[in-house]
Amino acid sequence: MIKSILCIGAGYVGGPTMAVVAKHCPDIRVVVADINAERVSAWQSGVPPIYEPGLAEVLRASLGKNLHFSADVDGAIASAEMIFVSVNTPTKTFGQGAGRAPDLQYWERTARSILQHARGDTIVVEKSTLPVRTAEAMERIFRSAGGRSRFEVLSNPEFLAEGSAIADLEHPDRVLIGGATTPSGQAAIQQLVEIYTRWVPRDRILTSNVWSSELSKLAANAFLAQRVSSINAISAICERTGADVVEVAKAIGADRRIGPHFLRAGVGFGGSCFQKDILNLVYLCETSGLPEVARYWETVVQMNEYQKQRFVRRMVGAMFDTLAHKRIAVFGVAFKANTGDTRESPALQVCRELLAEHAQVCVTDPQAIASARRDLGEAVSGLSFESDPYAAARGAHAIALLTEWAEYAELDYERIYAGMEKPAFLFDGRNHLDAERLYRIGFNVYSIGHPDRSRL
Ligand code: UDX
Ligand code: UDX
Repeated sequence: MIKSILCIGAGYVGGPTMAVVAKHCPDIRVVVADINAERVSAWQSGVPPIYEPGLAEVLRASLGKNLHFSADVDGAIASAEMIFVSVNTPTKTFGQGAGRAPDLQYWERTARSILQHARGDTIVVEKSTLPVRTAEAMERIFRSAGGRSRFEVLSNPEFLAEGSAIADLEHPDRVLIGGATTPSGQAAIQQLVEIYTRWVPRDRILTSNVWSSELSKLAANAFLAQRVSSINAISAICERTGADVVEVAKAIGADRRIGPHFLRAGVGFGGSCFQKDILNLVYLCETSGLPEVARYWETVVQMNEYQKQRFVRRMVGAMFDTLAHKRIAVFGVAFKANTGDTRESPALQVCRELLAEHAQVCVTDPQAIASARRDLGEAVSGLSFESDPYAAARGAHAIALLTEWAEYAELDYERIYAGMEKPAFLFDGRNHLDAERLYRIGFNVYSIGHPDRSRL
């Protein structure tokens, strides 16, 4: 039985995952180590450095008992029997495969630290999304030392979505564990299965070979993103033809073979995973001599780019072909509701394009302003931030709703309308608001996948 677990990387994946593991395994000592000391001290204080509903409660229940955070990664390696690796693997910005391939430098550095500091036999569990066959590379690094410790490498991709991370971890659709087919590989799989069976029904725990597991993670994200791009492509047709994308999504989603989820048309998908993982898949195909397959998946990202550009083009077109010096209130900059995360958020690109049109952009968001400030810059001409949506909309020519925060549907739009320049425009990038009602108030309303509701 495993008695001590270490997770390297205390980010959006490592922190919540280990809080839930610690909750269900009070007899196991769980340490989460990260090179970022500031992040570590936030976790240690019981106030997570990320916004995730329900996380603080789960964290505090085990913190200081069997859950600990540390900035001493090397020291923590020495006393762990099982090590999860959850460090970030961003898209490479330099050299071979720039813009596509994953940057594996943090991951390899972590593998080398494990090699150097592990004291006994260790099970290494890949949590970071990695291109297929990376576990093999990791194993080669471990073998190259020929040292005292033996290592088994497992792939255990995380499928949690931000904003619902705790519920996803508590009740996963499935847990996937890939390992070697050797007896020692199977024994390592069994050790990890025993941890998950504390709270996950056994029939939801799938085991496979390592490469199937790694590829499944890339494929799952590619399929999900593909559904979003597919419905977004349909939304463009709706806007031209008078069909309503919400009605179309409901009609096609009622077919059990298609299913109702992930058919919300919007301003485009964001988040740290979708684009990165599809580009990983594209790169994998290219380097495996499969250019046709690479092109197929690449179109999912291209459609996403098109959707963001189309949104801004529609704004410019509706507002008499000029946004210069017009105040535009951006409602929501997080890549989805219930998170403070702005990584790859479509709202960032929309803001940048609006600024390029010389608009006066005022960004509001319940959780993501600090992150958006870092991404967009502090002292950018024409850009401001405002925590109160009423203040953001005051004196504005237009509102662009880009994140579907529940509170944005509850605002007093009569009051907002009264304080805006006329004609007042509302661009709903998430089909989140009651467009008919807003139109009756006086707004000219442009919702994704709907014909214009305009008096102009
Ligand atoms: C990360 C990966 O990006 C994703 O591909 C994978 O599926 C899960 O892990 P996330 O948790 O969202 O996702 O990343 P992030 O919030 O950036 O956290 C990574 C953490 O690793 C950071 O806190 C960083 O400081 C830490 N890290 C990075 C290390 O501790 N050591 C390193 O060498 C590099
Ligand atoms: C995703 C996967 O869902 C998760 O399994 C994986 O572990 C990490 O990547 P995440 O990025 O946190 O999770 O959020 P998700 O809910 O999948 O949303 C991703 C993006 O797609 C968001 O920008 C969201 O707004 C967008 N989206 C999602 C749509 O535009 N329409 C939809 O119908 C669903």
